[in-house]
Amino acid sequence: MALLAIETTCDETAAAVITRGREVRSSVVASQDSLHARWRGVVPEIASRAHVERIIPVIDEAVRRAGIGIEGVEAVAVAVTPGLVGSLLVGLSAAKGIAATLGVPLVGYDHIAAHLYACRLAHGTPVPTPLVGLVASGGHTSLFLVRSPLEIERLGGTIDDAAGEAFDKAAALLGLGYPGGPEIERCAKAGDARAHRLPRPLVSDRERLDLSFSGLKTALRYLVRPPGAANDTPPPEPRVRADLAASFQQAVVDCIVAKLSLALDRTGCRGIAIGGGVAANALLRASVARLAEDRGVAVFIPPPSLCTDNAAMGAIAWERLDRGDHDDLDLDVTPGTDRAASRRSSSPR
Ligand code: KG4
Ligand code: ZN
Repeated sequence: MALLAIETTCDETAAAVITRGREVRSSVVASQDSLHARWRGVVPEIASRAHVERIIPVIDEAVRRAGIGIEGVEAVAVAVTPGLVGSLLVGLSAAKGIAATLGVPLVGYDHIAAHLYACRLAHGTPVPTPLVGLVASGGHTSLFLVRSPLEIERLGGTIDDAAGEAFDKAAALLGLGYPGGPEIERCAKAGDARAHRLPRPLVSDRERLDLSFSGLKTALRYLVRPPGAANDTPPPEPRVRADLAASFQQAVVDCIVAKLSLALDRTGCRGIAIGGGVAANALLRASVARLAEDRGVAVFIPPPSLCTDNAAMGAIAWERLDRGDHDDLDLDVTPGTDRAASRRSSSPR
């Protein structure tokens, strides 16, 4: 007997089976990256249509790999906020259909809290709280005071682009592929992070736990294509591109680490947990680990496969089921005011 979790907040169709002991029996993720690549960003209509086509095969595969059979599903969890409304509705409809047919509880969960819960899964036992949480992905970059898996209070975060969105736009400026984060990371390996001095917006402002990436993106744009240069200026040659990618990556990481450090000062927390697609970045992972070591605090970083969108992190639903809590079949989605909901073709300009 186990929980079936379903995740369709943005552009990944995912399902996972997790036992009450938080053992991930299966985790299937169907990425839509290739469908959105030519627009360099998620196109909501394409995303929801692809979810409709994939959701049943993905669930079937997760149940098959878990080796439990559909009758072994004792509850159904689904991410209901935040995200693209059309995408969220596909997951919710599937979850309701299965829960109603099997006569088992339905639990809606918060995708952002679930990104942090990936740390609990990777750790194997509950992580000590309170701690400072960072979720950095294509649609969100926020700092949280995590009191427990279900009690997270937003302390601050980006006032413009999300970190992942900034990586995606920077990659477009450099003529690299989509999604941009892994492309920049790969390209940066051959580059010198000190080659270009890019700004670190808001870092010196110790009054605010806010981040800003849009000025950094503009600074990169002017290095690639000086003001007045033709729009069809070709991307920089590989060596220059590597230096730019490395300098950009370093600037994003420096900004995030500075605010994590400030959040530790503000809250007095003795631990850090990170999640979201950008937490798959090796430089960020190493820099956060170093910060934790310097500050003598605990650090929880899930493996990259649990950082990018997945349904295993839907295990957070067990936190409610363990208390005998669940939702009714009138459960609805809450797209929220989150930037993920307005993320379309991400033009670098
Ligand atoms: O969490 P996620 O899979 O989906 C959202 O909820 O948005 O995050 C996707 C974002 C993309 O913007 C992608 O470029 C970024 O995470 N990303 C990375 C890396 N892998 C994915 N950013 C930096 N370095 C990476 N290795
Ligand atoms: Zn996400």
